[in-house]
Amino acid sequence: MWWQDAVIYQVYPRSFQDSDGDGLGDLPGVEQRLDHLAWLGVDALWLSPIYPSPMHDFGYDVSDYKGVDPVFGTLEDFDRLAAAARERGLRVLLDLVPCHTSIEHPWFREHPDWYIWADQPNNWLSAFGGSAWSRLNGRYYLHSFYPEQPDLDWRNPDVVAAMQDVLAFWIGRGAAGYRVDAIDRLLKDPELRDDPPASGPFGLPLSDEETKLALTNSRNAPDTGVALARMRDAVDDHLLVGEVYLPSAKWQPYLEHLDAAFAFELLHADWDASVLRAAIEATTRRAGAAWVLSNHDFGRLVTRFGAENARSAALMLLTLPGPAFLYQGDEIGLGDGPGGERKFDRAGRDRYRHPMQWDGSPTGGFTTGEPWLPTVEPERVNVEAQREDPRSTVSLVRDLLALRRVLADGLELVDAAPGVLAYRRGEHTVAINTTAEERPAPATGEPVLETWPGALRAGALAAHSGAITMGLSR
Ligand code: NOJ
Repeated sequence: MWWQDAVIYQVYPRSFQDSDGDGLGDLPGVEQRLDHLAWLGVDALWLSPIYPSPMHDFGYDVSDYKGVDPVFGTLEDFDRLAAAARERGLRVLLDLVPCHTSIEHPWFREHPDWYIWADQPNNWLSAFGGSAWSRLNGRYYLHSFYPEQPDLDWRNPDVVAAMQDVLAFWIGRGAAGYRVDAIDRLLKDPELRDDPPASGPFGLPLSDEETKLALTNSRNAPDTGVALARMRDAVDDHLLVGEVYLPSAKWQPYLEHLDAAFAFELLHADWDASVLRAAIEATTRRAGAAWVLSNHDFGRLVTRFGAENARSAALMLLTLPGPAFLYQGDEIGLGDGPGGERKFDRAGRDRYRHPMQWDGSPTGGFTTGEPWLPTVEPERVNVEAQREDPRSTVSLVRDLLALRRVLADGLELVDAAPGVLAYRRGEHTVAINTTAEERPAPATGEPVLETWPGALRAGALAAHSGAITMGLSR
C-alpha cells in the first residue's frame, strides 16, 4: 500500500497560500505551492476541510459536503489541484467530518430525524466545555463539539447512505482517501444514558470536567464498527485514517475498518526520553499507528517541545515505522502565533493556525493583502532562506524524508543512557538526547544524519540533539 510509510503533509488551507489577495489561503494557492511539497519529498497532502461552512469551527462545521467554500475556491479549483498534485506524484487526502454537520446544513432543517434529540439533556459534555445539549423548539439536540455542530445519527440508514455518497463523490474526483474527524464520537449509547463517574484515568488528556466522567456512553459505542464498515464499503481500499481520540489499547474495533489511527499517546507525551519511549512502546504493540506530533488543534513542534528540541522531534516523527503526518510550517520550525486571545476560534486555537511563511517579507509571501492572522517573524523563519542553507530545519526535514525511504520495517527499542531515547530500524539506529546535558550515545556505527553538525561526537550525544547511525550496533 502506498501509505504504509508515507509522509502526509497537513495543509491548513486557510493559512497555506492566498492567491487572490483577500488574506485567506485558497486552493489555487495550494496548487501554486505544490512544488515545495514535491521538493520536500512528501507523498501526499491532507487538506483540512475545504467544504462550504459558516466557519464556526473553521470548516469542521460543514454545510455542504459536496462543494468547496468560496473562500477556498471552486470544485474546478479542486479538480485542478488534484490533477497538478497527480502530475507531481502527490496524493490528496480530504478531511471527512462524519459525526456532525453545521447547524446550517439543509439536512438539519429538512431531516431533523437524521440528528440526535432528547426531551431532557443527560450529563454528556461538549469537547469545548459545558453540556453537549442545546435547546431548540422545546427539545434538545446533541452536539459533541460547538452548538453549531449538531451530531448526526449514524444508526439512521439515510445518514449512512448520504455519507457513503459523499465519500464516493470525492474519491471519484481524485481524492486518495480521508482523514476521518472525531471518529470515536460516531456512535453513542442509543439509550442516551449518562456517562458514569470516572473510575480510572482515560489515558489521554481531557478537560477538568471530562476527567470526572468515564465517557463510556457519550462515545465509542460497541457497535461503532457497523458504521465504519459502511464507510469502508464506500471507499474500497482508499486510505482512511481515523482521528480516534482513545488510547491505542482501544483501537482494535476501529482498525478492523480504518487503515490507521492517530497516535495521540505520543502526541501528548512530554519531551522526556522515558515518557516518549513508553508512548512508543504502548502504541507499537499493534500495527496501525499514524504518527503525528502537531496539528491545527495542538500546536507546533517548536512551541510544544522547545526550539532546541524541535529538530529532534522531527527526527523522531519521521523515523517511526508507519505513516507520519507533518503539519505545515513544522518543516521550517515555525512557532505558534501570539497568545490564545480567542479572536477567531472560541476554543483558543488561532495560535496554531498562523500563515505559512514562504519568504522574509512582512506577510511571508503568504498573501499580497492583510493575512487573516499575523505572520510570526517571517524575516527569521521562512522557506526561501532555509532552502539555501544545508544546516536549516527544512534541509534536515528533506534529508530525513529521503533517508526514511531506506529504513527497514519494524522498530526495536534499544536500552540507552537516562535521557536518551533510542530505537533501531534494521541497520539504522536513531538516538535522541532529550536533556540539556551531553549524554552517552548507544554504541553504534557511523552517523548518517544529525540534527545539528557534531551532534554525535566521541560516543556522546550533545544536549538537545539526535542522530541516525548506521552499522554495528550491539
Ligand atoms: C477535530 C478537529 O481537528 C478539530 O479542529 C475540530 O474542532 C473537531 N474535530 C470537531 O470537528
